[in-house]
Amino acid sequence: MRNAGIRIAPSLLAADFARLGEDIAAATRGGADILHLDVMDGHFVPNLSFGVPVVEAIARETEQFLDTHLMITDPGRYAEPFVKAGAGGITFHIEVVEDDPRTVVRQIRDLGARVGVALNPGTPAEAIESIVDQVDLVCVMTVWPGFGGQKFIDDCLPKIETLAGQMRDDQWLEVDGGVDASTVSLCAAAGADTFVAGSAVFGRDDVGAAIATLRDNAQGAVAGK
Ligand code: DX5
Ligand code: ZN
Repeated sequence: MRNAGIRIAPSLLAADFARLGEDIAAATRGGADILHLDVMDGHFVPNLSFGVPVVEAIARETEQFLDTHLMITDPGRYAEPFVKAGAGGITFHIEVVEDDPRTVVRQIRDLGARVGVALNPGTPAEAIESIVDQVDLVCVMTVWPGFGGQKFIDDCLPKIETLAGQMRDDQWLEVDGGVDASTVSLCAAAGADTFVAGSAVFGRDDVGAAIATLRDNAQGAVAGK
């Protein structure tokens, strides 16, 4: 059965960039399992965030696993500098891959990183059919990528169920976008085990309490199935 473990992944996009070290420490003290890093290129998504030097600085600051979400058009070109900077996992978007996605998977794996693939809300599960058994993580976007603080798109839940039925226990099924104390339960019931949350963690006064609520609600939904 899936859901052997629940992972809460605070997204640093919602942290205070002038106080990243403090926010990372607060999330770590508060029980974050991994950290989610959103890299945006202004092409694949209509926004820019941060790049390699910031990932490098974060890696110097923390021992946490850095789950690096590349919302960029050319992941093949930039995977290596991000891994060298300290990214433990590299997630690329299936929408940007023009050739065989197995090549991108192999390229990231050869760098020694965990491999993730992300799907936009409009992309069906079938789009990753050829690689679903080869990746370490599938990231189902539950908002259109580019910005934090958006509303969760319920229509993505059936896709989570479909993928949960295809994935092994050792693979992580991640949801990203609009995850809060209430939508986390829907995602966990659908089979997700890794929960990215930006505003629902760093937008709260008590980061530790926010993480605990997300975990409790996810666990409650799994137990109640
Ligand atoms: C959106 C990013 C998300 C974002 C989530 O493009 O991929 O990781 O930080 O933010 P919230 O949790 O606020 O929806
Ligand atoms: Zn993300």
